[in-house]
Amino acid sequence: MDSIIVTGNGPLHGQIPIAGAKNACLALMPATLLSEEPLTLTNAPRLSDIRTMTTLLQSLGAEVSALQDGQVLALSSHALTGHRAEYDIVRKMRASILVLGPLLARAGQAEVSLPGGCAIGARPVDLHLRALEALGAEMDLRDGYVHARAPAGGLRGGPVEFPFVSVGATENVLMAATLARGTTVIRNAAREPEIVDLARCLRTMGAAIEGEGTDEITVEGVDRLHGATHRVVTDRIELGTYMLAPAICGGEVECLGGRIDLVGAFCEKLDAAGIDVTETANGLKVSRRSDRVKAVDVTTEPFPGFPTDLQAQMMALLCTADGASVLEERIFENRFMHAPELMRMGARIDVQGGTARVTGVDRLKGAPVMATDLRASVSLILAGLAAEGDTTVNRVYHLDRGYERVEEKLSAVGAKIERVPAQ
Ligand code: EPZ
Repeated sequence: MDSIIVTGNGPLHGQIPIAGAKNACLALMPATLLSEEPLTLTNAPRLSDIRTMTTLLQSLGAEVSALQDGQVLALSSHALTGHRAEYDIVRKMRASILVLGPLLARAGQAEVSLPGGCAIGARPVDLHLRALEALGAEMDLRDGYVHARAPAGGLRGGPVEFPFVSVGATENVLMAATLARGTTVIRNAAREPEIVDLARCLRTMGAAIEGEGTDEITVEGVDRLHGATHRVVTDRIELGTYMLAPAICGGEVECLGGRIDLVGAFCEKLDAAGIDVTETANGLKVSRRSDRVKAVDVTTEPFPGFPTDLQAQMMALLCTADGASVLEERIFENRFMHAPELMRMGARIDVQGGTARVTGVDRLKGAPVMATDLRASVSLILAGLAAEGDTTVNRVYHLDRGYERVEEKLSAVGAKIERVPAQ
C-alpha cells in the first residue's frame, strides 16, 4: 500500500484545478441504465471509485469507455445482460446501491448486495428500500442481497416521505420515478448540489422533474428517456478541502472552477475563522488574514448546512487555531477517527460521542499516521502541510477514492509532498 510523505514547508501560492464531483458522478453513471441511448459525462473525475462504478455497470451489460484521460465517460446500456450487483463489487463502494432504482425502472428487477457498514458508520439502506416500495416495488432481503421486483406493469408514481434526509435514497428514488407511471412527490428530499446535478442530467434525458434543490421534488413519469451529454458539477468537497490548504499554512491559492454557492455554509465558518475567500473570474481565491486562525464551532448538517464531508478537514485547521472549537457530527455515528491520528501530531482533542472539543496548539509535529477513511486521509495531509517535520500518511488507497493526483495538485502550489510506492 502506497504512503504519502508531507513536510511542513510554509505558505502556498498558485492555482489548484478542482475536478468534477465524485458524489455527483457516482449517481450520474447509473442513470445510463434508464435509457437505451448513449449518455456522455464530461468533467468526470479520475478516481478509483469511478473505476469501480464502471466495473459494476459493465457487469450488468452496460458499455463504459473512459476517454480523454478519464475526463469523459461514454456510457451506453443498449442491451442489459444482467440485473445482479455482486457483493464483491458493492463491498468496495457503497454507492453501488444506486443501480437499484434504475434497474427496477428499466428491467423491472434487481438483485443488489447489501453494502454492509463502513468505517464511519452502519450506513443502512432502509430508506432506499422503503422509498422504492412506495413506487410499488417488492423487496425481499435474503442471503445478503436485496431481491427487488417491480409490479407487472412497471413502477407507479406515488408519495415518498423521508423521515430524515438521505442523499443516496433521494437519488435512487428520483431515478426510478422518471420512468414510473404517474406522479411521484418526494418530500424531505436531499438538497445537495449533487441532487440538482442529477436532476438536470435526467431532465436533459427527457425526464419531467421539478423542485430539485428544495426539500420537495415532483416527477412525472415518462415512457422512455433518450441519450444526453452532461457536464459533471464541480466537486464542492474537493473544493473545500483545497481551500483549507492556504488556510492552514498561509499563502494564497486560487481554486479553479470553485463556486461560492457550492460551499456557502463552509465559507461562513472560514470567514469567522479569519480566512478571506474572494470570487475571481476562474474560481475562488483563498488566504488567511493573520498567522493564527480563530477557533469556531461547527455542526454538520444536510445541505445547505456545513457538510459532514468537510468536518475532518476543518478539524485539522482548528487544531492550530487560537482557542477552543467544538465540532458536532450529526450525520454519521463514527466520523472522528481522524482525531486520534491528529493527536499523534500533537493536537489536543477530546471526543465525547458525536462531539469533539479541539483546543488549538501553536504548531503540530509531523508523525507517521494512518488513514482510516476518505476524508480522514486528506485531513491528515492538511495537518501535515502545517506541521513541523515529516508526516507519513499510510493506507492512502482511501485517499485515491476521492482525490485525483493530490500530490501533484499540492506540489504545484509549493507543498513538499511525495507518494512512496508500497515496498
Ligand atoms: C452520501 O452518502 C455521500 N456519498 C457521502 O459522502 C456523504 O457523506 C453523505 O451523502 C452525506 O452527505 C455519495 O454520495 C456516494 P445519506 P449517503 O444517505 O447517500 C443514514 C464521501 O466521503 N441512512 O445522506 O450514503 C446514514 O447512515 C462520502 O464522499 C439511513 O439510516 O448518505 C447517515 O447516518 C462519505 N438509512 C445518514 O442517513 C438509509 O437508508 C445520511 O446518509 C440511508 C441513510
